[in-house]
Amino acid sequence: MIKLFVNVDHVATVREARKTFEPSPLTAAILAEKAGAYGITAHLREDRRHIQDEDIKILKNHINTPLNLEMAAVDEMIKIAINTKPFQVSIVPENRQEVTTEGGLNILEQEAHLIEVGNRFRQMGILFSLFIDPDTDQVNGAKRVKADSIELNTGPYSEVCSGKERTQHLAQLKDAAVKAHEIGLRVFAGHGLTTTNIPAIISNVPWIEELNIGHHIISNAIYVGMEQSVRDTINCIEN
Ligand code: PXP
Repeated sequence: MIKLFVNVDHVATVREARKTFEPSPLTAAILAEKAGAYGITAHLREDRRHIQDEDIKILKNHINTPLNLEMAAVDEMIKIAINTKPFQVSIVPENRQEVTTEGGLNILEQEAHLIEVGNRFRQMGILFSLFIDPDTDQVNGAKRVKADSIELNTGPYSEVCSGKERTQHLAQLKDAAVKAHEIGLRVFAGHGLTTTNIPAIISNVPWIEELNIGHHIISNAIYVGMEQSVRDTINCIEN
């Protein structure tokens, strides 16, 4: 069964809009767990636009499921990850101007650095995942830098609803997933996923073990509540 990691960044986005104490990413995470989420994801961005350092400590200390910490591979974040010791670190590229993560990592231009970062996490028993576009060169790069897993960027797929372009995105995701599995990498996926576009991912892309979903779950939670929103997503994945 594919595991759902619920990303609680946008709970913090609402809180930071007022610089106040509510809503709480931890409360949302606990409700997500209650509804069956396998794990919780939070992205500590360098600009701290949503999740704050304190949120990461609180989540790590109070959730009962694995914490997946998304971060850029920079010294400041590496130190925080090593002190926090999450279950898993997912390395993403970061650009201060972007509204959200815009594309996968270019592993090929930073292999030596990623090997060193991965070694530091391995020594601490932290799983090391890399967010990449569905591209064979990047998949092979992830293997060379000894990542445990890749998270395939479903963002471009999620932006097209139908037609040839969508079929092409699904084919690229499938090829990358097959290649990754063949060379011993675990396969995750995420970005822009919704209960509308998840079914085609599941029926076309093999070997996916985990999905990371945030914006849609938090948006839907405004209408139906956090637990129901997580349950709707799990039902979609399971059916
Ligand atoms: N995976 C990665 C690497 C991300 O950066 C994000 C967004 O923080 C997600 C998954 C979740 O994307 P969304 O919020 O669109 O579901």
